[in-house]
Amino acid sequence: MKPACIFDMDGVLVDTADYHFETWRRLAEKLGFVLGDNMREQLKGISRMASLAIVLEYGGIKVSENEQKKLADLKNKWYIESLDEVSHKVVLPGVINFLHSLREMGVECAVGSASRNAAITLKSLELDDLFVSIVDGNDVIHTKPNPEVFKNAARDLQYKESDCIVFEDSQKGVKAAKEGGFNCVGIGDKNSLKAADIVISGLEAANYSHIVSKMKG
Ligand code: BG6
Ligand code: MG
Repeated sequence: MKPACIFDMDGVLVDTADYHFETWRRLAEKLGFVLGDNMREQLKGISRMASLAIVLEYGGIKVSENEQKKLADLKNKWYIESLDEVSHKVVLPGVINFLHSLREMGVECAVGSASRNAAITLKSLELDDLFVSIVDGNDVIHTKPNPEVFKNAARDLQYKESDCIVFEDSQKGVKAAKEGGFNCVGIGDKNSLKAADIVISGLEAANYSHIVSKMKG
């Protein structure tokens, strides 16, 4: 049986990580403080509300639950508007080729993303057909580093965790994958993603057979 692939979306399939961060920066500015660059990694991989809590804590701001909801909605509105400007250009290099090569090899694929926008984003980019299942932030209770989102994807694929390879760009996502018993390919910087089994710069550099040979030791 060929190991299945489960992809995080933001920063792995689509180049949206900076759009998320820049929109949080814009929100912080509106609230009267500057969100430091050191917060970039911390805000990756976690849910919108968990991100907002971190941003508000960073700014030393306390607001009611109702106000938190309004701020999260505003951030999402700005985020969606910023994505409209870039549309198809956000698909990261190598993604389409890699996904098509997996399909040709008969490798099952799914998405496991913290984003509540994952299903609509992939549909608008016409990538949704390449996945058996898209599990996103609307489908889970716990945010990464809890492995729930990847476990749900594995369940939909009907694969054991150890027979799946998770592709993930955030530290919290890599932690989720490893704690859930998955193989994990880190996407990005080796030093930042030490907990992954192997790290590559992006899907452009991905070679399924090579990855599988590393996984099987
Ligand atoms: C994750 C991103 O995939 O989704 C985070 O790494 C983002 O930066 C989170 O905050 C939630 O996304 P959304 O689209 O539901 O606001
Ligand atoms: Mg990500």
